[in-house]
Amino acid sequence: MSATMSSQEWDRRYSGTELVWTAQPNRFLVAEAEALAPARGLDLACGEGRNAVWLAERGWRMTGVDFSAVALEKARRLAEARGVEAEWVVADLFAYQPEPNAYDLVVMFYLQVAAERRTPVVRAAAAAVAPGGVLLLVAHDSDNLERGYGGPPNPAVLYSAEDLVGDLDGSGLLVERAEQVKRPVATEDGERVALDALLRARRPAAERA
Ligand SMILES: C[S@@+](CC[C@H](N)C(=O)[O-])C[C@H]1O[C@@H](n2cnc3c(N)ncnc32)[C@H](O)[C@@H]1O
Repeated sequence: MSATMSSQEWDRRYSGTELVWTAQPNRFLVAEAEALAPARGLDLACGEGRNAVWLAERGWRMTGVDFSAVALEKARRLAEARGVEAEWVVADLFAYQPEPNAYDLVVMFYLQVAAERRTPVVRAAAAAVAPGGVLLLVAHDSDNLERGYGGPPNPAVLYSAEDLVGDLDGSGLLVERAEQVKRPVATEDGERVALDALLRARRPAAERA
C-alpha cells in the first residue's frame, strides 16, 4: 500500500454531496489567526475550503491549493454560499512552488504524507511567507495512533511538531510555537481527544533602510 493517497483516491473520497470535513474552521486556526490583520493568505491542501473560506470572511485575500478538483469545487460552492471570493488552484504540492515571500499567512492543515515528501512541501510553504508573516501548520500527531482518536491509521504519514521544526531548518523563520495539542472530538460514545502537532513560525519583518 502506498503511504499516501493519490488525487484520484481523494477525488473519490470527496465525491459525495456531503462535506467530508465540516464547514467550520479548525479550532487552532481560529485561535491562532483571529487576531491577525487580514492581508494575503495561502491555504495549502485546503480540501473543501473550510479554513480558507473562514479567513476570506475575515477579509483575507485567499488562495487555496489542493490536488483534488472535486474538493475545490466544493470549496468554490462553500465560498459562494458564504458570499466571499477566493482563488482555488488545482495543484500537486509535491511540484507546486508558491510565490516566495508573498503571503502574510500560510496555513497547511492535516497534510499527512511520508517524511521525505513532507519536508520539501513544508520548506516551500515557509519560503512563501512574506516578511512579518506567519506560517501555521497543524497535523495529526505521531502519538495520535496510540494515544489519540481518529486520523490516518498509517504511522508513516504521522509526524510531530519537532519534525516540523526540523523541516524549517535554514528557512529563516523563527519558531514561535511547536507542540502537541489536544483536540476534543464529539463521538457517539462521548467526547474523545485527538492529538495534533501544531507549529507557528514567523518570518522576521524586513528591516527599514
Ligand atoms: C485531511 S484533508 C485536510 C483538508 C483541509 N486542510 C482541512 O483541514 O479541512 C488533506 C488534504 O490534502 C490534500 N492533499 C494530499 N496530498 C496532496 C498533494 N500532494 N497535493 C495537494 N493536495 C494534497 C487532499 O486532497 C486533502 O484535501
